[in-house]
Amino acid sequence: MQQRENLFEPLTLPCRVVLKNRIAKSAMSDSLGDGTGHPTAEQIRLYRRWAEGGLALSIIGEVQGTPGFAEKPGNLVLNDDADFDRFQALAQEGGANDTQLWLQLGHAGALAYAPTSQPKGPSALDLPGLCCAELTEAEIHRLPSEFARTARLAQDAGFGGVQIHAAHGFLLSQFLSPLFNKRNDEYGGSIANRMRLLLESIDATRAAVGPDFPIAVKLNSSDQLEGGLEEDDALNVAAALDRSSVDLIDISGGTYFPGAKAASDGAGGGPYFLGFARRARAVTTKPLMLTGGFKTRAQAEEAVGSGAVDLIGLARALVIEPSLPALWQADRTPEPVFPRFPEVPEGGITAWYTMRLTEIGADAETPAPGEIGQAIRDYDARDAARTAIWLEHFGDNDTSAQ
Ligand SMILES: Cc1cc2nc3c(=O)[nH]c(=O)nc-3n(C[C@H](O)[C@H](O)[C@H](O)COP(=O)(O)O)c2cc1C
Repeated sequence: MQQRENLFEPLTLPCRVVLKNRIAKSAMSDSLGDGTGHPTAEQIRLYRRWAEGGLALSIIGEVQGTPGFAEKPGNLVLNDDADFDRFQALAQEGGANDTQLWLQLGHAGALAYAPTSQPKGPSALDLPGLCCAELTEAEIHRLPSEFARTARLAQDAGFGGVQIHAAHGFLLSQFLSPLFNKRNDEYGGSIANRMRLLLESIDATRAAVGPDFPIAVKLNSSDQLEGGLEEDDALNVAAALDRSSVDLIDISGGTYFPGAKAASDGAGGGPYFLGFARRARAVTTKPLMLTGGFKTRAQAEEAVGSGAVDLIGLARALVIEPSLPALWQADRTPEPVFPRFPEVPEGGITAWYTMRLTEIGADAETPAPGEIGQAIRDYDARDAARTAIWLEHFGDNDTSAQ
């Protein structure tokens, strides 16, 4: 029988780091990097605002270890060439108010942003909207140490921990998914093989950061696509993570496969992957975080209080209201109002929320939601401008050399 936990009680992770409450900002790619992989003043301000808003844990989405496989040209790139001082400033401001500020270690693989990348995944694919080459074994063998190097740099810069991104159809999620991964070697086929790269990446990262630094994994409960990763295999991965050195498993789902439904596009009236979280509880004693669909304090309290999960992850709710944890703790209502858009072109939700992040970073968010068409135009224009800066700064990213 699980003990009932309150949303505002601390949580001690296996590495002994304490989270001050049970509310996390789940990873979001904020597109506020400056195009050379470095933080901007607006980005630092955004993370400061979240820290002041009372959450325990804040995760920066899609931080790359190399420029070759970014998800967007606004991603951060933390490697030996980075200007360390600028990352330290972000770590310090975003870690104010006793907030744990972690980096999500990203690699978009087959879904790398084509204007700045030559996408490569576990297997070559040539589908409408998705074309990539196959990673060689030598390239695969280099990946764990790349993740580990970025994690070590994050630790040195003063960030509190890292999250390895194995969800949403990006590289490690591609390896887990039979839809992307058709390899015949030790990295493809059975789920034991498909999770090999993830487990090697965890081991390398742990060896680089030591026992006291939090490492989380964001895992898809399912790709929600025919032929993709399914729940039973995802449970096998959760069981393997139980035997690994990770400190937290963040449960999500959905995939940015052309035409597919992504977790951040969902509407609906409650948390998305609670059923899987309950199944995962039976195969692991690691702390569980559940991300996706939380909109009210009552939903969050129920998920934690029932013992189903230890921590809840919020993305869009914290874009609508960055101070939501403090408001919940002070019993302030009403709950945030989520915008409803009658017609949403593909990618429109992400564009709208991302542009609102830009407003928050400028302390200029508006009470009424802006127009979605304008958000898409602004988002695309900024990506185009950052692409030019990225290519100028990093060159043409010949990924075979990385
Ligand atoms: C603008 C935006 C950017 C996102 N970027 C990332 C990301 O970089 N990494 C990640 O794991 N998830 C990312 N997500 C997904 C969220 O972390 C979360 O899983 C999803 O939005 C569902 O949670 P929610 O219902 O609280 O929004 C993003 C979501 C949004 C809205």
